[in-house]
Amino acid sequence: MRVELLVTPSCPHADESEANVRQALTVDGREPSVQRIYVGDLDHAAGLGFHGSPTLRIDGRDVVPPAPDSPIGLACRLYPQPQGTLGGAIPIETIREDLARREQDAIRARAARLKPRELPARASRAFFVGISRQPWLGRLATGFPLTRLMVRRFVAGEDLYDALAALERLQRRGLRWTVDVLGESVSSRETATAAADRYLTTLDALAERGLEANVSLKLTQMGLDLDVAFCRDNVARIVDRAAQLGAFVRVDMEDHTKTEVTLDIVRSLHERYHDVGAVIQSYLHRSAEDVERLIAEQVRVRLCKGAYDEPPEVAFVQRAEVDESFARLAERLLLDGRYPAMATHDERLIEHVIDFAASNGIGPDRFEFQMLHGVRRDLQESLVERGFTVRVYVPYGAEWYPYFMRRLGERPANVLFMLRSVLNEVRRR
Ligand code: FDA
Repeated sequence: MRVELLVTPSCPHADESEANVRQALTVDGREPSVQRIYVGDLDHAAGLGFHGSPTLRIDGRDVVPPAPDSPIGLACRLYPQPQGTLGGAIPIETIREDLARREQDAIRARAARLKPRELPARASRAFFVGISRQPWLGRLATGFPLTRLMVRRFVAGEDLYDALAALERLQRRGLRWTVDVLGESVSSRETATAAADRYLTTLDALAERGLEANVSLKLTQMGLDLDVAFCRDNVARIVDRAAQLGAFVRVDMEDHTKTEVTLDIVRSLHERYHDVGAVIQSYLHRSAEDVERLIAEQVRVRLCKGAYDEPPEVAFVQRAEVDESFARLAERLLLDGRYPAMATHDERLIEHVIDFAASNGIGPDRFEFQMLHGVRRDLQESLVERGFTVRVYVPYGAEWYPYFMRRLGERPANVLFMLRSVLNEVRRR
């Protein structure tokens, strides 16, 4: 999003307006970056279509469009203020209203570009990702026995012993794993520190039992929203312990507002520790560049399609575009990446990876497939039988609500499937 604040050099409301813009962007979870443009004379004003100072344009569109007959000029502009008066600064409320309007327009544009058969899946994802962010619903759902029954399919259990039992079952089926200690978006340093401690306990337990120590974590669980440096140090404690145990740590990727900072943290850890890897989502426009950079730095990448509801400015909208991007990124990673992981249950993409690897002389020891606990067990086993490594993402813990909601959003049929199996179980009892 391009945010430009156009002002005359002597505008007394430039600083306050800029501070308001930054605050409005931050409150709405966006990058608070604003470019200030000084308008020096009337010629410059005419060239920019400038009707007075300050003027805020987002992606080239004036936040408060001037009246059609308003003259080009360098005078001060006045804006209605929340208390009902007129003032020279652009109010935060006005900016936030404009951002909300743009979001609505973007959703409409996205819906218009979608093929009709993709609409239900898209709406379902937006709905479930939306409710996954409502903590009060999470509290309600986690106390509700029916939901707990449904969750069992995707989550190994609520405590470490459930997870260890699940890993032993996977081991018997020839599968490997990465363990996710569930949790995200913590609101205090104490909770973030406790989450990192749970990872240390998990790593130690895996090593003690001689089970492969491989974990996946989310930076918002480690305090990313509180303080980036604190979060990095918290994750460094885990990566440090992992290095002592010969374990691997994968940093999951969350929504696009976290991509840059997540990759920065992975890179800075990777400079010191080798066995830490990143995740790339094929639905993001930026991913081709990120993949090239990670290849150059030889950081291990897990490639997935992406599980969040992203705006069309940053992500492909159509399923075919996301799949095409996955195929191209997978090829780059197979050719030059360091032991990439192809995280998908999409059989067409899996066969594409297998064919591409075979025709380029890339053996099955140079990459792996990854799938989610409880999804396509048949496919997991058939790939193992064909000689491929398959790693299963095994989440455990009490904070399963947002993870579970994203899984429901990936496949609308899950909701009916789950309700049916729960009803059967209830009937059996
Ligand atoms: P797609 O959605 O096209 O599904 C293909 C087929 O797989 C479906 O037809 C169905 O049969 C089956 N399937 C897929 N999802 C299912 C579900 N939930 N329930 C039942 N069946 C399902 N995302 C992210 O944004 N950041 C991350 O860090 C990760 N990490 C990650 C790790 C691992 C190991 C995996 C497998 C996935 C992720 N993801 C993720 C999630 C990923 O982005 C994506 O949302 C899901 O994997 C679903 O996409 P598929 O590639 O499977 O394709």
